[in-house]
Amino acid sequence: MKKVAVIGGGTMGNGIAHVFAMNDIPVTLIETKQEFADRALNSIEKNLDRMVKKEKIDEGRKVATLNNISVELELVKGVKDVDLVIEAVPENYDLKKKVFETVDKAAPDHAILASNTSSISITKLAAVTSRPEKFIGMHFFNPVPVMKLVEIVRGLETDDDTYDVIEKTSKLLAKVPVPVNDFPGFVSNRVLMPMINEAIFCVQEGVATAEHVDEVMKLGMAHPMGPLRLADFIGLDVCLDILNVLYDGFKDPKYRPAALLVKMVDAGKLGDKTGQGFFNYN
Ligand code: 3HC
Repeated sequence: MKKVAVIGGGTMGNGIAHVFAMNDIPVTLIETKQEFADRALNSIEKNLDRMVKKEKIDEGRKVATLNNISVELELVKGVKDVDLVIEAVPENYDLKKKVFETVDKAAPDHAILASNTSSISITKLAAVTSRPEKFIGMHFFNPVPVMKLVEIVRGLETDDDTYDVIEKTSKLLAKVPVPVNDFPGFVSNRVLMPMINEAIFCVQEGVATAEHVDEVMKLGMAHPMGPLRLADFIGLDVCLDILNVLYDGFKDPKYRPAALLVKMVDAGKLGDKTGQGFFNYN
């Protein structure tokens, strides 16, 4: 793995670029505007500073990491000489389809195409490319520099060589790869989102306040964050999108999103990123 392109510099994209660069794999971070790229680089620098302060890395590693990242505003240019492309654009099938159609034409034939999607079908995304055997899900977790898991999602046509390369690459990043097959929500979000949704139902039905629901799960189940704090951290819009993918994919009412979640997203209360969700961050 000599060079990697990460498409999208949002929370997940900048975290993914951070871990590749920190492990000395040069990364091209592709964004649509310079201001978005600058924001991504600022986040990476802030997170590296935090790691220096905690003595997890030294100042030299921080500088080397930043030097391993270059920015590109043109998608076609950014993927032309890489071995792996990881897409981390918003969770919208049409947007991802457009991105992969372009990437498939522009990236070298040997390049593996990966999506960090949290729930969209890998098989369906692979089908828009001419290389479904080289297409795979590489699902990282937020905050990427901290969380050990990479859920590796095999599409219907993903071949063993592609899986092996991605498994090895994940280990190179000091992550723990776990293989799963392509089903709605994979394993992580199929298990996590119904828990978050049920916590929201508890608030909606007046079983307990958001603070108390979270306290139960933190103190009783040793979760580092309660489900509602975690929902704010992930983004309530992202949670709703994933629940809709589960609901549409399985046609099972157990995945129906709580009306309170829909209402909060409609109101623009999306959690940390807007300063207000189940909790207030202002
Ligand atoms: N970059 C680098 N380091 C970071 C970081 C970042 N962005 N954020 C936190 N850290 C480090 C801190 O420096 C600290 O290091 P230390 O252990 O050496 O002191 C450590 O992480 C813990 O951070 P804090 O002390 O600031 O805060 P907490 O102890 O509250 O931990 C947390 C924060 C790691 C986020 C913890 O609360 C946690 O594990 N929460 C659950 C996160 C989770 O479940 N993520 C998955 C979300 S689902 C997802 O991403 C999938 C998607 O498809 C929806």
